[in-house]
Amino acid sequence: MCGIVGYIGNKDVDSVILVGLEKLEYRGYDSAGIAAIDEGKLFIRKRKGRILDLYSLVNGKPIRGKIGIGHTRWATHGKVTDENAHPHVDCTGSVAVVHNGIIENYIELKDELTSLGHKFVSETDSEVIPHLIEEYYEGNLLEAVLKTVNKLQGAFAFVVISAKEPDKMIGVRYASPLILGIGDDEMLFASDIPALLSHTKRIITLEDGDVVLATQKEYEIFDFEGRKRSRDVTVVTWEADMVEKEGFPHYMLKEIHEQPKVFVKNIASYIKEGEPQILKDFNLRRILLNKNEFFIQASGTSLHAGMIGTYMLQNLARIKSQAEYSSEFRYKNPVFDPRTLVVAISQSGETADTLAGVRLAKSNGLDVLSIVNVQESTIARESDYVIYINAGPEIGVASTKAYTAQLLILALLSLEIGYLKGFITDSQLADYVNELKALPEKMRSILAKEAQIQHIAEKFYSANNFMFLGRGINFPTALEGALKLKEISYIHATGYAAGEMKHGPIALVDENLPVVVVAPRTSVYSKTISNIQEVRARGGRIIIVATDGDENVREFGEEIIYIPETFEIFTPILSIIPLQLLAYHIAVLRNCDVDKPRNLAKSVTVE
Ligand code: AGP
Repeated sequence: MCGIVGYIGNKDVDSVILVGLEKLEYRGYDSAGIAAIDEGKLFIRKRKGRILDLYSLVNGKPIRGKIGIGHTRWATHGKVTDENAHPHVDCTGSVAVVHNGIIENYIELKDELTSLGHKFVSETDSEVIPHLIEEYYEGNLLEAVLKTVNKLQGAFAFVVISAKEPDKMIGVRYASPLILGIGDDEMLFASDIPALLSHTKRIITLEDGDVVLATQKEYEIFDFEGRKRSRDVTVVTWEADMVEKEGFPHYMLKEIHEQPKVFVKNIASYIKEGEPQILKDFNLRRILLNKNEFFIQASGTSLHAGMIGTYMLQNLARIKSQAEYSSEFRYKNPVFDPRTLVVAISQSGETADTLAGVRLAKSNGLDVLSIVNVQESTIARESDYVIYINAGPEIGVASTKAYTAQLLILALLSLEIGYLKGFITDSQLADYVNELKALPEKMRSILAKEAQIQHIAEKFYSANNFMFLGRGINFPTALEGALKLKEISYIHATGYAAGEMKHGPIALVDENLPVVVVAPRTSVYSKTISNIQEVRARGGRIIIVATDGDENVREFGEEIIYIPETFEIFTPILSIIPLQLLAYHIAVLRNCDVDKPRNLAKSVTVE
């Protein structure tokens, strides 16, 4: 949460920082600010609200310079106010800091600094950082920062500039992400890759305990003791135009429509000579084949993909598997068996709960495989093995294309293991592979029904509550459909296993309640139809996601959205798409900020 940017180079800092912050706005959007050094003096512009509000502040009161830092905030400590917006400064107004994370010992540090005469103007934990730097400054900014980091507890990525040393920018990473971008005659810091792409593709993903001293032309990396460290430079494969809306009104809609393309790309890279080769590394194959249980831990949408993964792994590869919220997994005191593989699924690769689950598993000696989108992210780097889902940058806070890409990877993984273990024959594998190759076209045919789904949204957008039901492998689809709707439209939505409805939630059904039932033709189809009857008998307004050609459901549903037929194991890949579109259009009709829903952030880097 929170996005930070830093720049030193030849360009005007206001546009570099503001554009960079726009690319990171998905990380938080309670307030935003910028600091720059011009002719030896530090200037700050900050205010509560979005980056657009900061633009108008800067338009009215320009800020200049070739070195600067910026911040977009997701509030933790302190209300959403102008004073609590970053950057924060020291008493002299010469040191400015932008911070992402939580300084856990800030109260004692603040007391200590106050007793030494420092004056605080915000309620944030972050403000202790510039004051500590001020306190320790004896003519060398790097030394003051090194002393400061050794006083801090908690999670922190921060960038510092000082009018006393206007040709230096220092970035620190500890338990919150920070990337160094190495350009031609310019250096940048950012919380995430999209902010750097229009300047450079050469990056260093910093590691915990890294302190980087950057000038316009050079950088040096130190540890907290001031010893030099070296890090490899990576060239990212994402392009700058991947983070544009490309004519769509929202990133979310663009990303929904990108799903077939992501499938085509992944199928081409992971299926070779008719076989899934996701574990092509022989060691990884050997290691995974020796595991007797897969324990998937993830958060939010990624957990829903993981839940579907358990059905795939059990059915295709006959592997015992379970999925759990990362935030619960950690505190359950899990019993670890050395033959358990812990699987972390995360779009961002930075989710604090999921990362903590990875660390817990590793500290207990277990192997960890991560399924991640963002290259070089912390979860990817800390796991023993990583499979990338190659969905490209996902900017909309509501995850869509990453979810279906995660499902594809889980399906490929399950097929490969099932085939290698002998549970899937050659001809069955060929059928599965052919069907996977047919999915992008089937996804396109659902996207072509957007006008019908928009019409359904117009009918139901003013409802106060929704229920989503699904059974078997589509039970998590119901959870995901409900999550999509509630997070972007603020309508209360409950997702439930259709067979469980009679144990409680059926009490909610009346003639005002829209009930979305995911009922493709699968092994639990007839059971789902019985559940639809139960809703119908109580007057609920039924919207059904059904398989093409299923005339039977017309009798029960007020609205039917047809999806193409596919193998049961792949149905969740198709059945979620109408629910993503439904949530999107309902949110638009309710005038909600689709890409930046209230109270949320894309990367949840606090526990
Ligand atoms: C999805 O729409 C959500 N905004 C959220 O639940 C998300 O899936 C969750 O925070 C996990 O994120 P990750 O995949 O980056 O770990």
